[in-house]
Amino acid sequence: MHRRQFLIAAATLSLGPAAFAQRVSLPEVVVYKDPNCGCCGAWADHLRDSGFPVKVIENRDMTVLKQRLGVPDKLASCHTAEVGGYILEGHVPAQSVKRLLAEKPKVKGLAVPGMPAGSPGMEVGNRRDPYDVVAFGAEGSARVFDRYR
Ligand code: CU
Ligand code: CU
Repeated sequence: MHRRQFLIAAATLSLGPAAFAQRVSLPEVVVYKDPNCGCCGAWADHLRDSGFPVKVIENRDMTVLKQRLGVPDKLASCHTAEVGGYILEGHVPAQSVKRLLAEKPKVKGLAVPGMPAGSPGMEVGNRRDPYDVVAFGAEGSARVFDRYR
């Protein structure tokens, strides 16, 4: 093998079959956001950067949409999303979304209530507020799924 071909082969291998398989198997995230929300777009970019295909749908009445999708009032944030049969509310890190899709717990979805500074899409200088990712059920139950400190 010529040196150049070898380098190309090595570069292809270094991506690894696992990385490739993960990339093609990540389902599309459908993001509903108010057209005037900037941090929502930044969160969509974070998901894209993490390998998710993302579709953004602008929605002017997020309160009604959240009720329709069954997001508990007390867990509400800015945007709402759907992925793989789950609901995502707010600035949920891609890492937690991947864990959700891998473990498939019997929950309705994940939420990061409010808009904590330092969560993906909510970068405010170097500020990093601690926050929890909460898993919620259809009957309004909620438990901590991931902690970010
Ligand atoms: Cu936000
Ligand atoms: Cu948002």
